[in-house]
Amino acid sequence: MVKISICIGSACHLRGAHNVLNAFTSLVEKYDTQAVVDIEGNFCQGRCTEGVVIKIDDEVITNVSKDKVHDIFVDKVLGR
Ligand code: FES
Repeated sequence: MVKISICIGSACHLRGAHNVLNAFTSLVEKYDTQAVVDIEGNFCQGRCTEGVVIKIDDEVITNVSKDKVHDIFVDKVLGR
């Protein structure tokens, strides 16, 4: 199981966390990976100026925008 945590604190929200969340959710459906990917919202990760902040398992990834989600998903989720 791969756990994707997306910060939904206010700073990340303003930077488009909701779009990032939607983009990951769409990819999980597109690649039929519901059984192996768990997506959740996270509280502020303390790195608000680097948002959107996400975590894939224990790896923190900063400055995520919805345009980067596909590459991250292919690399960090499908590439495992
Ligand atoms: S709101 Fe996302 S790191 Fe603070």
